[in-house]
Amino acid sequence: MGGTILEREDELGSTARTAGDGAGSVVLISGEAGIGKSSLVEAIRRVLPAEGRLLVGYCDDLATPRVLGPLRDLIGSVGSTLTRALERRDRGEVLEALRDELGWTDHPTVLAVEDVHWADEATFDVLRYLVRRAARLPLVLVLTYRDDELSAGHPLRQLLGLASRVGPVRRLRLARLSAAAVRQLSAAADVGADIDADEVFAITSGNPYFVTEVLAAGDATTVPVTIADAVQARVAHLDPATLESLERLAVVPLGVQPWLIEALVPAGPAALAPAERHGLLAVTPSRVSFHHELIRRAVVDSMPTARRMAANRSVLAALLARPGTDVSRVMHHAAQAGDTAVILRYGPIAAEEASAAGAHRETAAHLRLVLDQQPILEPRAEAKLWEGFAIESYTIDAPGGRRPGGPKARCRAAARRRAARLRRLLALAGRDAEAVVVAERAIELGKETPGTLSHALNNLAMALWQSGDARARSTMEESLRVALAADEPEHACRAYINLILYYLELPHLGDARRLLPEGIEFAERSDFVRFSRYLQVALGRCISRRRTGTRSYRPRRTHSTAPRRCGAPR
Ligand SMILES: Nc1ncnc2c1ncn2[C@@H]1O[C@H](COP(=O)(O)OP(=O)(O)OP(=O)(O)O)[C@@H](O)[C@H]1O
Ligand SMILES: [Mg+2]
Repeated sequence: MGGTILEREDELGSTARTAGDGAGSVVLISGEAGIGKSSLVEAIRRVLPAEGRLLVGYCDDLATPRVLGPLRDLIGSVGSTLTRALERRDRGEVLEALRDELGWTDHPTVLAVEDVHWADEATFDVLRYLVRRAARLPLVLVLTYRDDELSAGHPLRQLLGLASRVGPVRRLRLARLSAAAVRQLSAAADVGADIDADEVFAITSGNPYFVTEVLAAGDATTVPVTIADAVQARVAHLDPATLESLERLAVVPLGVQPWLIEALVPAGPAALAPAERHGLLAVTPSRVSFHHELIRRAVVDSMPTARRMAANRSVLAALLARPGTDVSRVMHHAAQAGDTAVILRYGPIAAEEASAAGAHRETAAHLRLVLDQQPILEPRAEAKLWEGFAIESYTIDAPGGRRPGGPKARCRAAARRRAARLRRLLALAGRDAEAVVVAERAIELGKETPGTLSHALNNLAMALWQSGDARARSTMEESLRVALAADEPEHACRAYINLILYYLELPHLGDARRLLPEGIEFAERSDFVRFSRYLQVALGRCISRRRTGTRSYRPRRTHSTAPRRCGAPR
C-alpha cells in the first residue's frame, strides 16, 4: 500500500498538523470498503514529525472478534508494562498502562485503530476511555471504519457520539476519486495504450480499490465488472495445489504468521509464488497476506461449502496443535468447520475469558454458539450456560445499562452474590421472545422439583404477560397451584403477588379483590411479612381504584420494575 495516493492532501495535512501540535484529539476516518482508509493511515507515517510515532492495531472480521485484538497488535511496539497488561488482559491494568504509554509529552503518538466496526467489546471499552482522555494526552486517536456497515444499534455509534461530545474531533469522510485522478492512475499503470481511463472511471465510480483492480486486470475491453470477477479471473490461472493452499489461507481472517503457513502450506511459502505473481498474495519472510481484504473475501465466497469447511478444519487442527492459541480464533474456525466437539470444549473457556475482559457481547456470542449445538449436558451444567447467556444478553441490551450504578451494575452485583436466580432470568424480560424460550427451558429443567417448577412458571408467566400473551394468566394460576400443593410458601406468595398485579392491570378488579384477602392471610400465616405488606398496599390501590374508577396502578414495562415486582427476599 505504499503507492501514490491521490486527492487526500487535505486529510493528510490536517492530521499532520494535529499530530505536530502535540494537542490531543480524535480523528474519525470513514468510508466504504476500498475507499482508501488504510492507505491514508499508512500515509500518515510519512508526514509525522520526527519525534512522533504511529502505532496501528487492526480489528478483524472474525465471527467473534479477538478480545482486545487491535491493542494486542501493539505488542512489540510499546513498553513492557503495557505489553504485560495486554498479555494478562486485565482491563484495569491495560487502561493504566495505556495512559502512561501514551502520556510521553516529548513523543506525540498517533494511535490508529483500523476497522473499528469489527471491534470487540473490550476494545470499545478501552476506546471509550481513550476518547474521554485524548484531549489531555499528546495523542491523536485515529479510528477507521466502514460507515455503510453500521446498523442502528451498532456499539460504534455510541463511541462516535461520545467523541463528538467530549473533545476535539475531526471527521474525515473519504470521497471517491475524481475522473482526473483515475486518468492519472491509468496513465501511471503499465497496462498498454488501449486502456480507456474514462471507461475505468465509469465502471468503478472512482472507488480506488476497484480502480486498482481494473487497472491490474489490464484490458479495458474485458474489464471485470465486479471484484469477484476480477479475483476469479486471477484464481483461474492457479494450479490445483496452489489453489488449495490459497483457499486454506483465505479462511484465516488475520494475516497468516509463519508457523501457520508451515502447517497450512506444507510445501512452504515458495509454493505460493503463482498466487503472488497473479497479484493475490503478498508474501514476505514474516507474513503472508492477501493484497486486500476484499480479495480474501472473494476467494472465500467462491468456495463451495464443503471445501470451505475442509479448509477451516485444517486451520483448526493447526491452531489446536499450538499451545497458547487464542481461543476466539479456535471458536471462529470451529464454528466455520461445524466442529461441535471443539465448540463445546472451548466455548465456555472463550466465554469466561471474554467475560473477564468485560466483553459481554463476545461472551454472549460464545455462549449462544455453544447452546446452538443443543448440547446434551448434565442439567446443572446446561442451566449454568443458559443463566450466563441470560445475564450477558441482559447486560448488553438493557436500555439503561450504560448508566453507572444502573440495572447493569445491579445485575453484576447480583450475579456475584449468586443470590437471585429468579431475578437473573427475569432480567431478560424486555426481550420477550427469548425470555419465553429461556423460561420454558427452565420449566423443563425444573419439572422434578415443585419449588423450582413454580418459580419457573412464574418467570414464564411474567415473560408472557410482557409480550401480551393471554397464556400469562393460566400460567400464573398454575404456578400458584403448584406452590400451594407442594407447600412452597415463598413461591406461593410470589405467585399471589404477580397474579394480583395481573388482575389489577387488566383490570379484573373483582378477581383481584377476591384473591387479595386470601393472599394476605397466606403470607401472614407463613411469616412472609414483606409479601403481606406488599399485598396490603395492592389492596389499598384496588379499593381506591374501585372508588375513583382511575387506573391507579399500572406496572411499567421495564427491566428494573419487572424483577422488583416479584423479586422479594429469598
Ligand atoms: N487516494 C488514493 N489514491 C490512489 N489509490 C488509492 C487511494 N486510496 C486507496 N488507493 C488504492 O486502493 C486500495 C484500497 O485502499 P485501502 O485498502 O486503503 O481501502 P480501505 O478503505 O482501507 O478498505 P477496507 O474498508 O476494505 O479496509 C489500496 O490498496 C490502494 O492501492
Ligand atoms: Mg482498510
